[in-house]
Amino acid sequence: MVKICGIGAGYVGGPTMAVIALKCPSIEVAVVDISHSRISAWNSNKLPIYEPGLEEVVNQCRGKNLLFSTDVEKHVCEADIIFVSVNTPTKIRGLGAGKAADLTYWESAARMIADVSKSNKIVIEKSTVPVRTAEAIEKILTHNTNSKGIKYQILSNPEFLSEGTAIQDLLKPDRVLIGGNQDPEGLEAIKKLKDIYAHWVPQDRIITTNLWSAELSKLADNAFLAQRISSINAMSALCEATGAEVSQVSLALSKNTKIGPKFLNASVGFGGSCFQKDILNLVYICESNGLTEVANYWKEVIKVNDYQKSRFVHRVVTSMFNTVSGKKIAILGFAFKKDTSDTRKTPAIDVCKGLLGDNACLSIYDPRVNETQIQKDLSMDGVEWEHPIHLQPLSCSVVKQVNVVGDAYEATRDAHGLCILTEWDEFKTIDYQRVYENMQKPAFVFDGRNMLNVDKLREIGFIVYSIGRPLDQWLNNMKIMN
Ligand code: UDX
Ligand code: UDX
Repeated sequence: MVKICGIGAGYVGGPTMAVIALKCPSIEVAVVDISHSRISAWNSNKLPIYEPGLEEVVNQCRGKNLLFSTDVEKHVCEADIIFVSVNTPTKIRGLGAGKAADLTYWESAARMIADVSKSNKIVIEKSTVPVRTAEAIEKILTHNTNSKGIKYQILSNPEFLSEGTAIQDLLKPDRVLIGGNQDPEGLEAIKKLKDIYAHWVPQDRIITTNLWSAELSKLADNAFLAQRISSINAMSALCEATGAEVSQVSLALSKNTKIGPKFLNASVGFGGSCFQKDILNLVYICESNGLTEVANYWKEVIKVNDYQKSRFVHRVVTSMFNTVSGKKIAILGFAFKKDTSDTRKTPAIDVCKGLLGDNACLSIYDPRVNETQIQKDLSMDGVEWEHPIHLQPLSCSVVKQVNVVGDAYEATRDAHGLCILTEWDEFKTIDYQRVYENMQKPAFVFDGRNMLNVDKLREIGFIVYSIGRPLDQWLNNMKIMN
């Protein structure tokens, strides 16, 4: 029986390993993590992450061919194949600070593998890593186990799942990418991994490349997706200035088969653990190779994203007579997108911090994100979140002007304005007439996800700002005031 060990039981490692276990009943899959709380949650009825369909997959396999454990060394030692999905945060200090990937956790995983291994292993990069990381990992492994005569093959098998649809993405991937050395041993390792995916993925969707192409493809993939969002967001600003409608522009673009329909929704900005981190990483690699123009090109994608978030805060403040000091603002949605509890790099953090900077009182509701998480996000420095949970501060100061509540009606009661920051479906079906009646007047709606029926809201009496749509007379007048 082939044994697989997955190091890192996070958003990537947990669902990926669970689906492999589901589709390969003859393979024993152990998921290990240094965080005891994460592992005990994986072994409980309340999984540590929310992902539609995940619970069903875990319930089907756990106790059969899927186990979660903190005994990292035992399972690494026993495994034939090791998937590594540990954190690769942006470096906080030192060379490349603010841009380069911090490979501390990857390096310590590699050293641990070298220490405990007694047989040959295939080590697979699942985490996003800078190009040529495999080379460094190979050096660590071989220099530390030379005397034992153990052979390692490093493969790059980047993950393309999206949170919220992770299980579907894993069950029906549009492609699986496997990069490895092109010598006979490397090709044999590639084949072994290909055989695992072949249990459920059609052969023509499994692409094999050399190591560096696979590593770079992952960074390029996220950079291209983020670039599309920044492009449509840049257009949204122009739409507001000219009276065009960004959703109509998106629709027109989407019908061009050369462009296609995805990733054209204007928003308050992209978030998530990957896009910004991977672009910064790409920028650093370009700069390290003397490619300043290329680095600057990708930097603009992040600049437009930051601009989009600050533009939104500016709209809120200027519309409300140029101050939100002491005013209650309802924040609907805090996760970085719908159907996930993940708040890493969510645009809501920057928008809320911007409003708090102007002394607003925030009443926040998100169907999946709890108060502790929101308070941590608003009081801590964002980069700390990219590190493993057990290394994060146990407690944080409470932001007094933030109140986290249990539903949208409570959040909006007596509020001066409401901001939609995540596109949760339930926000479409709120009784906005009731919300309006219970709000201060004039009552404002700021739709950061372009998801509400603006005409209906205006009929009710709201003053509405929706990203990329023609401005209300009110907002136009306020613009002149500024
Ligand atoms: C992480 C990275 O952020 C991403 O860049 C990479 O592509 C995949 O891994 P994700 O799974 O979303 O993505 O992160 P997270 O949920 O934080 O999971 C990482 C897990 O690794 C944590 O549970 C952490 O405790 C664990 N870990 C970290 C180890 O088990 N060992 C370590 O040395 C470090
Ligand atoms: C992304 C990539 O899609 C995936 O391939 C990669 O493996 C990991 O990173 P994820 O971060 O989970 O996945 O979510 P995604 O759906 O890509 O959304 C990222 C952010 O962009 C979210 O904040 C989302 O709201 C925003 N977004 C997405 C837009 O603002 N507009 C869009 O049209 C699409």
